[in-house]
Amino acid sequence: TEPLRLGIAGLGTVGVGVVRILRQKAALITERTGREIAISAVSARSRGKDRGVSIADYAWEDDPVALATRDDVDVFVELMGGEDGPAKAATEAALAAGKDVVTANKALLAHHGQPLAEVAEAAGAVLRFEAAVAGGIPVIKALTEGLAGNDITRVMGVMNGTCNYILTRMEDAGLTYDEAFAEADGLGYLEADPNLDVGGIDAGHKLALLAAIAYGTRVAFDAVELQGIGSVTIEDIRAAADMGYKIKLLGVCQMTGRGLEQRMTPCLVPAASPLGQLTGGTNMVVIEGDHVGQIVLRGAGAGEGPTASAVLSDIVDIARGTRLPTFGKPAAALTQATPAKSVAP
Ligand code: NDP
Ligand code: HSE
Repeated sequence: TEPLRLGIAGLGTVGVGVVRILRQKAALITERTGREIAISAVSARSRGKDRGVSIADYAWEDDPVALATRDDVDVFVELMGGEDGPAKAATEAALAAGKDVVTANKALLAHHGQPLAEVAEAAGAVLRFEAAVAGGIPVIKALTEGLAGNDITRVMGVMNGTCNYILTRMEDAGLTYDEAFAEADGLGYLEADPNLDVGGIDAGHKLALLAAIAYGTRVAFDAVELQGIGSVTIEDIRAAADMGYKIKLLGVCQMTGRGLEQRMTPCLVPAASPLGQLTGGTNMVVIEGDHVGQIVLRGAGAGEGPTASAVLSDIVDIARGTRLPTFGKPAAALTQATPAKSVAP
């Protein structure tokens, strides 16, 4: 069998992680998939930057669109970020050319997932994004594959490592917001625009994607009720602790009689509950299905290794020949989400 040839755009935290895993684990991955996975070409903003990993073996493209459409690229791996700009242009170009795409970009998919999925389907390509939601936790595979026999009754969780890190370090170590924020930055958790994290927007993107998959609806990020952690004070955290609670940026989505409810807001959770005990950059997603009951998925939601691990899982699926639709069912069959908050009770 011919190798599966990748073009990777973006060699930051996640892109370098993917290169590192592929260099370290080439033999194991080939053994597991029955197909070699090779990097043909890469792209980033500055060619000369020392990235701590050798990229000398790969062709270089300054332009991510040119990379995405190269003849020696079967799968375009988009790890630049940004909801528009080169990430969108290159993803569209790759899909339109019939190339499969793997991305970690929740902003891109929360805003343009539906039309991109339609481009993919029209061209016979697949678009996968396991790393975009809850980093290393295989939550999309759980919903689309493992729980396919269930009606999903509720999905909730902590889906932004930066916010969870900041809140728990303020509580456990008495750090100020700024000190905790600086630590999260040092761990590689932050988005290029940190307001996406602390404003709850990044977690809202993830929730909107999970809701679309869980309920077969079009991605409705604009309908997410959203509030970040900027207004949470150390006094709030202490008052919650005195009552036996923790403050978490918690996402909840469920289908109600009034439509799809999606909320991403700071919430009080019992300190002794699994969500209350979640510390650091860890994420937790709780899924309730009518047959399976409740399952709890917990793990690293950000950082080089966990995120690259999820990107690799999509690449391996493609190498194995798995052709799942982007949102678990054909994009054309996704229904319009009725936002619960805009419907009178
Ligand atoms: P970084 O900021 O670390 O890296 C971004 C990379 O993209 C850099 O290599 C940069 O080039 C390159 N890049 C940016 N703009 C362009 C451009 N116009 N043309 C070519 N290359 C460009 O980001 P991350 O690795 O942290 O994140 C990548 C994606 O993964 C984002 O969508 C993010 O939301 C997502 N993600 C990140 C997680 C994390 O823990 N970091 C977790 C889950 C998802 P250069 O290096 O030369 O500046
Ligand atoms: N900035 C994100 C976080 C990265 O802190 O969770 C993972 O999506």
